[in-house]
Amino acid sequence: MKSLQRLFSPIKINSMELKNRGAMAPMATNYANADGSISERYKAYIEARARGGAALIILEVTSIDGSFPYVQHTVGLWDDKLIPGMRQLADAVHAHGARVVPQISHPGPESVSFFYGIQPVGPSVILSHSHKQICRELSIAEIEHIIEQFGDAARRAREAGCDGLELHAAHSYMLLGSFISSLRNRRTDAYGGSIEDRLRLPLEVIRNIRAKAGGDFPIIMRISGDELTPGGRNLEETQYIAPILAEAGVDALHISSGTFPQMSWRILPPTGTPRGLNVAFAAAIKEVVDIPVMVVGRINDPRLAEDILRRNQADVIVMGRALLADPELPNKAAEGRFDDIAPCVGCGLGCIAGRAEGRPMTCLINPTVGREREMAITPAAKPKKVMVVGAGPGGLEAARVAALRGHQVTLYEREAEPGGQLRLAAVPPMKQELSRGIKYLRTQAEKAGVTMQWNTRVTPELVAKVKPDVVIVASGAESLVPNIPGIKGDKVVSAHDVLAGKVFVPCGNVLVLGGGMVGLEVAEFLASPGDNPVVGRTAVTVVEMLDNVGLDLVPEGRTLLMQRLQENGVKILTCTKVKEILEDGVVTVNTVKETLENGTVVIRDGQMQQTICGMDAIILAMGAKSVDELSDKIKNKVAEVYVIGDAKQPRKALEAIAEGAEIGRKI
Ligand SMILES: Cc1cc2nc3c(=O)[nH]c(=O)nc-3n(C[C@H](O)[C@H](O)[C@H](O)COP(=O)(O)O)c2cc1C
Repeated sequence: MKSLQRLFSPIKINSMELKNRGAMAPMATNYANADGSISERYKAYIEARARGGAALIILEVTSIDGSFPYVQHTVGLWDDKLIPGMRQLADAVHAHGARVVPQISHPGPESVSFFYGIQPVGPSVILSHSHKQICRELSIAEIEHIIEQFGDAARRAREAGCDGLELHAAHSYMLLGSFISSLRNRRTDAYGGSIEDRLRLPLEVIRNIRAKAGGDFPIIMRISGDELTPGGRNLEETQYIAPILAEAGVDALHISSGTFPQMSWRILPPTGTPRGLNVAFAAAIKEVVDIPVMVVGRINDPRLAEDILRRNQADVIVMGRALLADPELPNKAAEGRFDDIAPCVGCGLGCIAGRAEGRPMTCLINPTVGREREMAITPAAKPKKVMVVGAGPGGLEAARVAALRGHQVTLYEREAEPGGQLRLAAVPPMKQELSRGIKYLRTQAEKAGVTMQWNTRVTPELVAKVKPDVVIVASGAESLVPNIPGIKGDKVVSAHDVLAGKVFVPCGNVLVLGGGMVGLEVAEFLASPGDNPVVGRTAVTVVEMLDNVGLDLVPEGRTLLMQRLQENGVKILTCTKVKEILEDGVVTVNTVKETLENGTVVIRDGQMQQTICGMDAIILAMGAKSVDELSDKIKNKVAEVYVIGDAKQPRKALEAIAEGAEIGRKI
């Protein structure tokens, strides 16, 4: 095992001593109270990460102005009334030997203030992509007021016992990031134009913070090493401004990259993107400053963190989603328990998509995020004999938790290996990392004492023989076969079977029916050799009845997938519904979207028919159907029968694991 000596060595940022080099990234959770104060839920969530060994917790966007929240439930430091709650949070973090800094921010163009009838503000009149709104240009008097607000919030952070603060000036995002980037700052006064003038606001903010919170109060600044966006800032500019910021009083630079929304995949890098994708920028910035340089972005393994530190590419490693997946990552790393670390696979299903849809933040691999207290694992009152049917993610998690609670658990899987549909999801290009999640769930279930029975189909007879107290049916789902004429044709195969390697799709022309995540990913899987004369070319056409594809994908992953599909020449036909399947093709009709008087949107068939033929294979990716051949047959014979995950209703692994985690705690 590689020793993690560097990761577990201390460092100082101004007056703040960190016990190790691992920090938690700011992540907006929507957990705060409506008045901006710290909720019990948020405190428990943060405390779990401090207890888990992170040396520094950077709190999420913490607004300096109550009229400009970032999300609906934004943490705030806009009023002295918010100090006591923040103090309790700081005390809770300190109790574990960790440090805490709020990311004090004015959300500027990114505020949800418009929900409350307040137009968001920015350096210039710009379209804010986050909420598709126009923000108005700030006057000089307003800028001066905001500078004071930053200083006041910093003073409150200090009075609350926080150990410093972070300023968010990255991604051409929020107010400070918008001012320093020429993408958004089109001012012609003292606050716009040259980089020196675009920097004026952050520099005046730093001065005010120093005046109100003191010279020894650590200031970290998050900045994009490179915005990687035409018209935005580049690495050379960051290397130019980094010493200016250090000279002005910034004590550490925290390096990210990209802009929102053009390059948001750099900010929230999805599954399959390079790990440590900002490390080269951090290293380049380290060359020009003497203050500590921190780096964030898909550093999801402590061994990688150690490597970056050893190569002197950064001084502090910042982890975001990896600490959602496992708050105990630092402690487990220190003990060398790498297999026990729940891995962040970059899926974004719970943390990014969930939150964007207005749901509280959660995590695929760790459904206890934000429910730390109520999801604590406690011994079962009475140990029971439990049969879990299906070793997909939901079944594995249910079995693991139940076994940890002292139940006697056997997990039955009809295949020879675990993973279910998640194993198939790991097959297309860029998705292999999902198998880390399966491996983790399996290893942990085994360690918890679960007995695994592979190649075993559970029948009512087997249940009668085993005589369990509880049966948890987690048998997943299979490809939906819709009622379309010709669907039983020789060339029709399911996406599941293609990804499972059960059918071979020869090079040639392939039609994929359905442009959701599964359809697009199977399209990429088949088309990805591209126009390769050695291995041959598979020309893929995707047919989708809606007016867009991939709507069930996390936006960052979708952007990259769409680019790759284009590079591989995949043709996408939207507003196209399959009426009939022919021997080597389909008959389609166009669809028209219509909004009814009551606001309901319906999709109607249009008039234009089309025949697509010459296909070598037709792949069904039109949804999934639950597989549950058991629960009805045993419900009167076993005391407790539960159906979870896709077996209950086809959805995503996120729901399956969450339901497994809940049922494991309930029985
Ligand atoms: C749910 C979520 C919320 C985030 N909120 C913030 C935020 O409030 N402020 C910020 O600067 N970055 C925010 N980020 C970006 C993270 O701080 C981090 O840079 C990003 O997740 C990449 O790091 P990771 O790969 O370690 O997760 C957020 C990320 C996620 C996933």
